[in-house]
Amino acid sequence: MHFYMHDEKIKRLYHLKKLAEGGGGAEKVEAQHSKGKLTARERIDILLDANTFVEIDKYVTSRSEDTNEKKYYGDGVVTGFGFVNGRRVFLYAYDFTILGGSLGEMAGRKVSKLMDHALKSGAPLIGIIDSGGARIQEGVMSLDGYGDIFFRNTMASGVIPQITASMGPCAGGAVYSPAMTDFVIMVENVGQMFVTGPEVVKEVLSQDVSFEELGGARTHASKSGVAHFVAKNEYDCIDKIKTLLSYIPQNNAEEVPLFETTDDVNRIDPNLVNILPENPYEQYDMKQIIKSIADSGEFIEVHELFAENIIVGFARMGGRSVGIVANQPMYLAGALDINSSCKAARFIRFCDSFNIPIVTLVDTPGYLPGADQESNGIIRHGSKLLFAYCEATIPKITCIVGKAYGGAYIAMGSKNLGTDLNCAWPTAEIAVLGPEAAITIIHRRDLKQSPDAVTTKKKLAKEFRDKFANPYIAAEKGIIDAVVDPAETRPMIIHSLDAFANKKDSRPLRKHGNINL
Ligand code: HXC
Repeated sequence: MHFYMHDEKIKRLYHLKKLAEGGGGAEKVEAQHSKGKLTARERIDILLDANTFVEIDKYVTSRSEDTNEKKYYGDGVVTGFGFVNGRRVFLYAYDFTILGGSLGEMAGRKVSKLMDHALKSGAPLIGIIDSGGARIQEGVMSLDGYGDIFFRNTMASGVIPQITASMGPCAGGAVYSPAMTDFVIMVENVGQMFVTGPEVVKEVLSQDVSFEELGGARTHASKSGVAHFVAKNEYDCIDKIKTLLSYIPQNNAEEVPLFETTDDVNRIDPNLVNILPENPYEQYDMKQIIKSIADSGEFIEVHELFAENIIVGFARMGGRSVGIVANQPMYLAGALDINSSCKAARFIRFCDSFNIPIVTLVDTPGYLPGADQESNGIIRHGSKLLFAYCEATIPKITCIVGKAYGGAYIAMGSKNLGTDLNCAWPTAEIAVLGPEAAITIIHRRDLKQSPDAVTTKKKLAKEFRDKFANPYIAAEKGIIDAVVDPAETRPMIIHSLDAFANKKDSRPLRKHGNINL
C-alpha cells in the first residue's frame, strides 16, 4: 500500500534490482553451477549472518565504449558489508557470470571504494576471487584499477586483517592482490592462481602444464606457499574464514578476542614429557605438545602443507588468542631452512601487527646446512626470522623442550630478541652445536690419534652432552628464566601471558625497518 504514490518508480527499482542480482543471466549462472561453483551472491549469503548484507554500487556499469563489451549492472563484482558471527566485515566477491569476473575500470573503482570503507571503519576485509584478471577490452583502465587495489592492500596491511578466498580462476592481476593480503584460502580443484595461464606458458615456453599443476590449491599450499589453507569445498572455505576471524581482532588498535574457556588454566599434563623420545635423534610430533597445552586441544594450523619443518598457527590459552610457532622434528629433524624461516617470519609479523602474543616451542638442531640452502639464500631468508622476532613488541613466551643449537637457538625467540619469558624443560639441550658436531671440531686431534675413533667419539659426545647440553647453564646466567616440569607447561605459559598482557614496548621511531626481503 505504501507504494501507492510512486508505484512506477518503485517497480523500476525492483526491476533493476532483479536484473543486477541475476548477474550475467540464467545461462551463465547455470554454467557456474555446472562447474561445481556457487555464484558470488550465494557465497556472500553463506558467509554473512542472515539479513545483514548491505550491498553498495549494485547499479554501477562499465563505461567502456568497446562494442564487444556488454554492460551489466554490478560490472562483475558484488561489494558491501555485513556481519560474520556478529563481527563487522567488508567484503567483495567477483561475479564470474559477468565477463568472467574480469576487472575493468568501474569494477576496480568499486573494489577500491570498498577497501577505503573497510580501512576507515577498522573492520576486516574479505575478498572472494573468481576472476579472469584484467578485463582485456578495457585495456589500461583495467591495469589502473588493479594499481589502485594494490595501493590499498598495502595501506591496509597491518591495520585491518585481509583475507582472500580463491574460489575459481584468479588470473593475472587477480593474483597479486590476494598475495598482498594476510591469508589466502584456496578451494581444492576449484581455486587456481597463476600470473599467466597454461596457454601462455605453452606459447612462450613450449611447456605443457595443467591448470592444477601450475596454479592449483595443492601447488600453492605445498610448493609456492601462496596459499595458507586448502578447503575441501566452498562451504569448508567459508567455515575456515569464520574460524580464522574468531582468532583475530578487528584492527590493529584492538586487543585480541577473549573467549570464556572451560579448560582449567592450571590443568597439568603428566604425560607431556613422554611425547619426547629418550633418544634426541628420534622423531616425534610437536603438534601433540601444542594440542596438550592449548585450550581444549584446539589448534588452527596455518600453512599446514608448506615448510612442514616449522609449525605456525592459532590457539587459545586461557581464552586468549595466541600465535604458536614451533619446530617440527618430524620433518628435517626440525631444522630451519629457507621456506620455514620465511613462513614463520611472516606469521610473527602478522601476529605483531594485530596484538596477538607469540608462544614459541623449540626443538631444532640448527639452520639446515648445504650448498643448496646456501646458494638459494638461507642467509638472506634465515635472517628474516631474527628480524621478525626482534621487531615484534607483542608479549613473547618461549619454551625450549629439546634441542636448541646455534643460530637456530637465537632465532627461535631467544631472550636477546626481546622475549618476555624464556623457559625450558629439563630435557632441553642448549649449545652452539650438537654434541657430535661439536666434538668433531674441538676434539679433532684426539679423534685422529685415537685407535678406536668410534668409541672415543661416543664417549666424548656423552661427556659433552652431560656437561653442556642441558638448560642449567643458561638458567644460571638468567638467559632461561625458568626450568619447568613439562607437566606444568600450560599453566606456566598462561600465567606468563597474563602477566605480560599489558606489556608496553616500543621500537625507535622510523619510517620502516628494512627487513631482508
Ligand atoms: C575479459 C574475460 C577475461 C578477461 C575471461 N573472460 N577472462 N573477458 N577479460 N581477462 C570472459 C570470457 O571471454 C568468457 O566470456 C567468460 O569470461 C568466461 O570465460 P571462459 O574462458 O569461458 O571460462 P573458463 O573456460 O572457465 O576459463 C576461465 C579463465 C579463462 C581460465 C579465466 O577465461 C582465461 O584464461 N582468461 C584470460 C586470463 C588472462 O590471461 N587474463 C588477463 C591477465 S593480464 P563469454 O562472453 O564467452 O562468456 C592481467 C594483467 C594485470 O591481469 C597485471 C597486474 C599486475
